[in-house]
Amino acid sequence: IPVNAFDLVLFGATGDLARRKILPGLFHRYEVGQMPEEARIIGSARTELSTEAFRADVRQAIEEFTPETPTRAAVLERFLLKLDYVAVDARGDAGWQALAAMLRPDVVRAFYLSVGPSLFAGIARQLDCHGMATPEARIVVEKPFGRDLETARALNAGLRACFEEHQIYRIDHYLGKETVQNLMALRFANSLFEPLWNATHIDHVQITVAESLGIEGREAYYDQSGAMRDMVQNHLVQLLCLTAMEPPSKFTPNAVRDEKVKVIEALDPVPPGDIARGQYRADKGGDGYLDHVGDAQSRTESFIALKVHVANWRWAGVPFYLRTGKRLRARVSEIVVQFRDPPHSIFPNVGPIHGNKLIIRLQPDEGITLRTTIKDPGPGGFRLAEVPLDMSFAEALGGDVRPQDAYERLVMDVIRGDQTLFMRGDEAEAAWAWVDPIIAEWEKNRDRPYPYDQGSSGPEEALMLLHRDGRRWRQIGG
Ligand code: BG6
Repeated sequence: IPVNAFDLVLFGATGDLARRKILPGLFHRYEVGQMPEEARIIGSARTELSTEAFRADVRQAIEEFTPETPTRAAVLERFLLKLDYVAVDARGDAGWQALAAMLRPDVVRAFYLSVGPSLFAGIARQLDCHGMATPEARIVVEKPFGRDLETARALNAGLRACFEEHQIYRIDHYLGKETVQNLMALRFANSLFEPLWNATHIDHVQITVAESLGIEGREAYYDQSGAMRDMVQNHLVQLLCLTAMEPPSKFTPNAVRDEKVKVIEALDPVPPGDIARGQYRADKGGDGYLDHVGDAQSRTESFIALKVHVANWRWAGVPFYLRTGKRLRARVSEIVVQFRDPPHSIFPNVGPIHGNKLIIRLQPDEGITLRTTIKDPGPGGFRLAEVPLDMSFAEALGGDVRPQDAYERLVMDVIRGDQTLFMRGDEAEAAWAWVDPIIAEWEKNRDRPYPYDQGSSGPEEALMLLHRDGRRWRQIGG
């Protein structure tokens, strides 16, 4: 869908996220002709910079973070002409008038706050005071959206003092991932799965977001957060919502978000026995978590696994096992839907017949696999074998479709005014309301995470979480 002319003000324009994701995303949209020539991007940060110096910085970022193509250099020259820069002081008055004077009155205007949450309310206020928070303006904020319910409420209050909810775009970049949206297509654009998508047919669900990287360069932030706040409260809860929600009646922002909020509100409290927290330890190859954060006493988890119940009619008794962690054996995000075993076997002497397994691979190698039981074609009587019905999106769609990066899609959705893939304020608060007591409990008990080996699947205790239910995690990385 073509977008109209816009002024996009990017606060934190010289920061890591802007250079690595947001500006390259905008560049790609321009490259494929999805950004009108009248679009303008105004970079902003505290540092005084000339527009030329800012453009030089962006040139470097695009060259570093986008793939080289025969046309990139020429497109980049034209893209850079769309950029301006103005220094503003997010905590003071300097620069705001200059910024206001740069904005055009008759085009879409969006303010992207790629800055820490402590600056959200101040920036919103300045935009309001200087007449920039017009009824059509949009404001975009990044995670972390608070560190608990109280701080999330304060952030919401700070933003809502100057903007209406329909103008506020809270980014969870997992919702921008092509395959995460595909989850909705899989469920609601096919008639095969939805009739089986419930406790009658599904034994359990596993959601894994495993990373092989550690916490490099973000030690201070991470040690204050841990896997629960950094990944579960947002990304994993979102994946859980999309897997568990009722079909919205329409694909509209509020219809979708209403259904997600209902899932979060249906989440049972998680008892400590259903949680395994881990911390990667030092090994021959290098330092461990405690060395990385420089605090031998840190009780922050770099891994967490939890058994979660969505207490509603559809999911009664079906556990959702979630796990995420750093320095694991591979970078894999996937959702595994384990169907129940067939109720009765007509085949003698073939051993137990296992239920089907639907594996939705979010990254890497995005695709869907359905583990299916067939007759083993070999000689020697009637035997059964489990085989994958496999679909890799890259293969199915042909190799030349470059998947859109999450940020690329989300920024354009802001310009289009489509909030479907953004978290609503009540949704963020509901997720914190579920997370807070879980964290409070382990903090009260001063629980220490279990150590785990780097390059492993996390601590033994996470495996036990399923073993004791007679189940097994799918191995990370295949
Ligand atoms: C971020 C977390 O939100 O998501 C990081 O703060 C994490 O800790 C990242 O590494 C994972 O995102 P992706 O897109 O690489 O799976």
